[in-house]
Amino acid sequence: MNRKYRKTVIAGNWKMNMTLSETKAFAETLKPMLGKHKWCDVVLCVPYVDIPAAIRLFKDTRVVIGAQNLHFESNGAYTGEISAEMLKEIGVKYVIIGHSERRQYYNETDVTVNKKVHAALETGLKPIICVGETLEQRELGGTMEYISYQVKCALAGVASDQMRRIIIAYEPIWAIGTGKTATAEQAEEVCENIRTVIRKLHGARVARSVTIQYGGSMNAKNAYELLAQLDVDGGLIGGASLKPAELMEIINAANQE
Ligand code: 13P
Repeated sequence: MNRKYRKTVIAGNWKMNMTLSETKAFAETLKPMLGKHKWCDVVLCVPYVDIPAAIRLFKDTRVVIGAQNLHFESNGAYTGEISAEMLKEIGVKYVIIGHSERRQYYNETDVTVNKKVHAALETGLKPIICVGETLEQRELGGTMEYISYQVKCALAGVASDQMRRIIIAYEPIWAIGTGKTATAEQAEEVCENIRTVIRKLHGARVARSVTIQYGGSMNAKNAYELLAQLDVDGGLIGGASLKPAELMEIINAANQE
């Protein structure tokens, strides 16, 4: 990470975990541990139904709340969906877009990801855009090309002055929920490549200001080394973000030079 030019952001992705009562218990445990942690921003992307309570529970802390998805239309006949406006109005700040689980199980495509990025930006939400290769793609040597393609598609039509509000999360699919983390070198190599793609699209000043996270089995043990990489500006954390003490250790790992 490089705190001179960009924010370090530690974000939890709770996925389909945590009932309301579990959310309350989590907040009660985490809040006393938080302190000031001025060295990074902390985001918790919780299930939709937990959002209002989570916002209330973390009100006087530096933790802000995000959603895990949104619909790209602002309203209409889309049963079961949630719009950017709905999220914005209740106080959501960030939204995860294009997580590999949504691409895999819910037909999320590069086209819908791009539409969702625009919907979020137009409404004032900060997108956390997920990209990542499969193990097969990595073994075939196509990682950089594939990630570059995903980033370009997600950012199509995004203006340079909107880029500061965007986070890109590099999440190799083979590392998600598997306990198999990318090495710090692998994470840095891809995150650096993502910054190069942004530099080509928007120039060096914009590229150096964009937060790029790593995600995929990040935990208290490996966070320090991953976050020590120049182009790894934070983490998108699944399993380890469900445990307050472990999440706090990851937040503390962001407190390094
Ligand atoms: P894990 O940290 O559980 O591997 O999940 C990563 C992830 O998918 C975050 O979005």
